[in-house]
Amino acid sequence: MARKSRLVSLAASALALVCAVAYAGSAPASPFKVDKELFKFYPSLIVYEKSKAGFTEPETCAGCHEDKYKEWNGSLHSMAFVDPVYQGELNKAVKAVGHDISRQCEGCHSPAGVVTGEIKGPGLSGLSAVAKAGVSCDICHSISALNHDKTPTKEPENGSFVIKPGEDGKDGNAVLIKHGPLKPSDECGGGFHECRQTEFHQKADLCASCHQVYHYDKHFPIEATYNEWKHSPYAQKDIHCQDCHMVGSDAFVKVADTMTKPERKDYRHYFNGANYLLYYLGSQAAQKAGDKDQAARLMAQYDMAVKRLQKAAELEIEPVYRKGALAEIRVRVKNMRAGHNLPTSLTNIRQMWLEVVAKDEKGEVVLATGAVGPDGSLSDDARLFNSDGMGPDAHFAVDPWIITAFSKHETIPPKGYRDVHYGITAPKGSAKLTIEAKLRYRQADQKIAEALLKAVPKDIDLARDYGLTAIPVLPVVDMVSLKREVSAVK
Ligand code: HEC
Ligand code: HEC
Ligand code: HEC
Ligand code: HEC
Ligand code: HEC
Repeated sequence: MARKSRLVSLAASALALVCAVAYAGSAPASPFKVDKELFKFYPSLIVYEKSKAGFTEPETCAGCHEDKYKEWNGSLHSMAFVDPVYQGELNKAVKAVGHDISRQCEGCHSPAGVVTGEIKGPGLSGLSAVAKAGVSCDICHSISALNHDKTPTKEPENGSFVIKPGEDGKDGNAVLIKHGPLKPSDECGGGFHECRQTEFHQKADLCASCHQVYHYDKHFPIEATYNEWKHSPYAQKDIHCQDCHMVGSDAFVKVADTMTKPERKDYRHYFNGANYLLYYLGSQAAQKAGDKDQAARLMAQYDMAVKRLQKAAELEIEPVYRKGALAEIRVRVKNMRAGHNLPTSLTNIRQMWLEVVAKDEKGEVVLATGAVGPDGSLSDDARLFNSDGMGPDAHFAVDPWIITAFSKHETIPPKGYRDVHYGITAPKGSAKLTIEAKLRYRQADQKIAEALLKAVPKDIDLARDYGLTAIPVLPVVDMVSLKREVSAVK
């Protein structure tokens, strides 16, 4: 009897062991603990404090804050949900992983649409103005607290803020409360809303939870703009995201060069970044919809984005000699004015690279690398400053639901630089060479952009809405270029 029960228990523990192994093989335990009581919209980490006070559409705020509305309306925050490139990728994500992942995406691209449960899938039809308005006034100004220290990684990620548009008043009616940076005046809110002052609206902490994009399950930081900034000289000098992205071009250059904050009167709701392609597409759409003012605002943001890119970096060219003869060209790329790595955010998608051409006195090409072909393809030898994503199988991957690590990460730290060396020999008889180096930028590889735009949900019609009948070769911006003559011998 005793013997039998021992056998049984042995068998049971063997079975338990097999089960444990099998379980570990199919679904390894996550290294991170997730508090699903707190994070009800997981994989988005938004916390919603619900009351009778609902979300207000930006057009209502515009009634009393017209300037801010106009500035914001030309920004990518206003396009964050309707963006066709986003909708294309969202569509692919939902097909690959299922509907649950869309909460993660929408938690940053349309937070109101997630917490109200309004958005049921990719596409725009049937959605309210508030949901379609993306990152609108009533997102940022309803953020009442931050949960950055309570996330699975204990760092800001995937929308780790508390959103509270207002509360139930004593009479049972909704009271709207808007959070902002200033000490409220007595008239604050004009009878429409109450005002609360926060510490974080003038700090990077406000932007952090959306500008740190983590893998929805493995919590790998795919986009890490906030962390890059946090470890930079800018953070040490109290220069925050707002000081470069909520001001015009001249003010931003001054901030980066002098490491001093803008003046109070300089702040604008531009949120201007680098994505000139999307400003251009947005402007085409506004034109098609007959809104000339909006089209002009978006083109002004386009110009600002190009200018921003052209102020971000500087180049140096140095010859390297061995045994008296020219052996290498060293090109140094310096991140002068980006408050984070250059490029940042979608570093595995954005492309920034060097095109270098060396010619002898007769104009014969001695070295050429980094050219873009007529079909938009970038030559294989181009030196890119980006990252390559990889999935759990260590294979190259592009989609954010697959990427759990980077196999390569070559972006340039703030105020830092990277050197690229090109081996070169001057042809016999030539005394000097002319070297031309260009730092170039575009939003994505041609093929990736084509794949995303082809994946847009059915209710977005690129021809009807954007006037795009074919996907053109992506425009490239020359951020900076430099020419230098170098001697063939030393
Ligand atoms: C991405 C977040 C974000 C969005 C979206 C946003 N704001 Fe702001 N807003 C801020 C930040 C940050 C500040 C503080 C900047 C500063 O120091 O002036 C601010 C400041 C303000 C202020 C007070 C400062 C002043 O100069 O009066 C008002 C009013 C305001 N925003 C209204 C709006 C309105 C209206 C909209 C929509 C049209 C909007 N905001 C959209 C982040 C945002
Ligand atoms: C933590 C917030 C956050 C989450 C979660 C998030 N995004 Fe984003 N997304 C951003 C930010 C910020 C940018 C802008 C980065 C830039 O322009 O460099 C962006 C940009 C993009 C772009 C590029 C848009 C363009 O026009 O170039 C695509 C596509 C995109 N996201 C898709 C997704 C999808 C699909 C998901 C879900 C699987 C997702 N995002 C989840 C914050 C987020
Ligand atoms: C009926 C007019 C009215 C409407 C509508 C309105 N506001 Fe205001 N708001 C005001 C006034 C007045 C102030 C105080 C301005 C001042 O002191 O310069 C103010 C101040 C603010 C501030 C500054 C708070 C601070 O102290 O930093 C924010 C943020 C703000 N509003 C956001 C919003 C948002 C978001 C909306 C839409 C949901 C909105 N407002 C709608 C009248 C309005
Ligand atoms: C010292 C000025 C400065 C500060 C501070 C700064 N930025 Fe930037 N930012 C830039 C410049 C310049 C660019 C254009 C070059 C580039 O793409 O990196 C840029 C680009 C961006 C882009 C677009 C990236 C792309 O290539 O699509 C995003 C998103 C962004 N910044 C967000 C932030 C956030 C969030 C913070 C704060 C955590 C911040 N920035 C702080 C100057 C700054
Ligand atoms: C609720 C989430 C959220 C918050 C908060 C937020 N952003 Fe963004 N931001 C986004 C998303 C999503 C995009 C990308 C939209 C797209 O490309 O489709 C974006 C785009 C941008 C861009 C344009 C990037 C480009 O490539 O041109 C800049 C600049 C930017 N944000 C700066 C800021 C700053 C500064 C703050 C804080 C004051 C901030 N954001 C707060 C979600 C957010």
